[in-house]
Amino acid sequence: MVKPVKKGEIVTIELDNLAYGGEAVGRVDNFAIFVAGGIPGEKVKVRITEVKKRYGRGELIEILNPSPFRAPASCDVYTGCGGCQLQHVEYKEQLKLKRQIVVDAIERIGGLKGVKVHSTLPSNQDFYRNKAQFPLGVGKGVDGREEIITGFYAPGTHKIVPNNNCCIQHPLINRIVRKTLKILNEEGVSIYDERVHKGLLRHLLVRVGVCTNQAMLVFVTNGQEFPKGKKIAQRVMDEVPELVSVLQNINTQRTNVILGQKTRLIAGKERIIDYIGDLKFEISAQSFFQVNTLQSKVLYDRVLKYANLSGKEIVLDAYCGIGTISLYLAQHAGVVHGIEVVQQAIEDAEQNAVLNGIKNTFFYTGLVEEILPRLVEDNVKFDVVVVDPPRKGCHTDVLKVFGETKPERIVYVSCNPTTLARDLAVLVKYGYEVIEVQPVDMFPHTYHVESVVLIKRKYMG
Ligand SMILES: C[S@@+](CC[C@H](N)C(=O)[O-])C[C@H]1O[C@@H](n2cnc3c(N)ncnc32)[C@H](O)[C@@H]1O
Repeated sequence: MVKPVKKGEIVTIELDNLAYGGEAVGRVDNFAIFVAGGIPGEKVKVRITEVKKRYGRGELIEILNPSPFRAPASCDVYTGCGGCQLQHVEYKEQLKLKRQIVVDAIERIGGLKGVKVHSTLPSNQDFYRNKAQFPLGVGKGVDGREEIITGFYAPGTHKIVPNNNCCIQHPLINRIVRKTLKILNEEGVSIYDERVHKGLLRHLLVRVGVCTNQAMLVFVTNGQEFPKGKKIAQRVMDEVPELVSVLQNINTQRTNVILGQKTRLIAGKERIIDYIGDLKFEISAQSFFQVNTLQSKVLYDRVLKYANLSGKEIVLDAYCGIGTISLYLAQHAGVVHGIEVVQQAIEDAEQNAVLNGIKNTFFYTGLVEEILPRLVEDNVKFDVVVVDPPRKGCHTDVLKVFGETKPERIVYVSCNPTTLARDLAVLVKYGYEVIEVQPVDMFPHTYHVESVVLIKRKYMG
């Protein structure tokens, strides 16, 4: 098929949509062109940079009629850095665009028309992230000198855009990163080079308890030994009293996966503490914890509302992490069973139940697709099911179990509208009805959107 555009060509297009990924989309003879930095409603001039079978990509060179929702980005490195995609859009409009992304996915991928999708629930917008995973490299720092640097990768590359003052990270994270970099430079630590798979330090992971101001720092190393580890940990702790936990994670694989399997304590404690609502959580380096602590309460309150518990129900919390949703619901349910594949997260979940004096939860380590059928074989009958899977969505075997055992209501928490839409279509085939969808903004200024969906059994099969 002859494409209507060529690489290098300059075309004028009207942008009519925002794709999941944050690029605006316009068309030339019905051929979709993706434009980073555009806003639906704008007429723009773009240089075509990529032509694929079904779509192309263009670099924005002129905005002919700027959107009334265009806003100045608050970050100095916004255009070069791949961390945020929507800082150029007013926040209220970001919320509308995110809702539309969810609607589009449900209609186009899920094939479901007329589903009620509420307005996106807004978040605190700045310094909201409680966790950062920064790659380390050597290059020109923010002040132009050759040194150890960190920041986000530029979009589509592994080139670090130096940034020690990210406006979506918690201020304590920025402070720890700045102090750590200074000390790493002074100590002359070897930095990992992924091209040759040599050098020691790969990443810094920093996590903070937003409600407790406790912080954790993890050095990810390409090797078992971290010769100056203790000295560096002590120096950073001396400068940042909030830092209560310093660990080393060992990752010797040639991989883009940040953390390896093994983590060892260098100084302080193994875990930090944070709160969601009145519940207290201990969090390990390798466990999942929602990155926007304050907005997690908004998310979990909606899960609780959709679960509509009377105090007697048997509840499943599939993909439970450190048991945050399980414990949130346990206070209103008969019993909650949580399933999670990361052993350390299940240890945290069990510890967190004790910490909060909650006795009606059971936690299982393993894949949901393996543990759930075993619970069903043991005659556990779930009244209410909550699923909060990773980006790839639920395993088909998990949805099949719901189709066979037919719990009355399913609350689906999703961080990926495309896999959510795919899974909703399957559940509808199994006799379920999608009652309503609540998008929740957990990640302002990025294209990401979380959704909570209420799904009810339509009939007994
Ligand atoms: C999006 S997180 C949700 C965690 C938790 N509900 C929360 O709000 O903090 C998904 C979790 O599922 C776990 N996971 C991923 N695939 C899994 C699988 N097949 N079986 C069990 N757990 C899985 C991950 O380790 C992660 O903790």
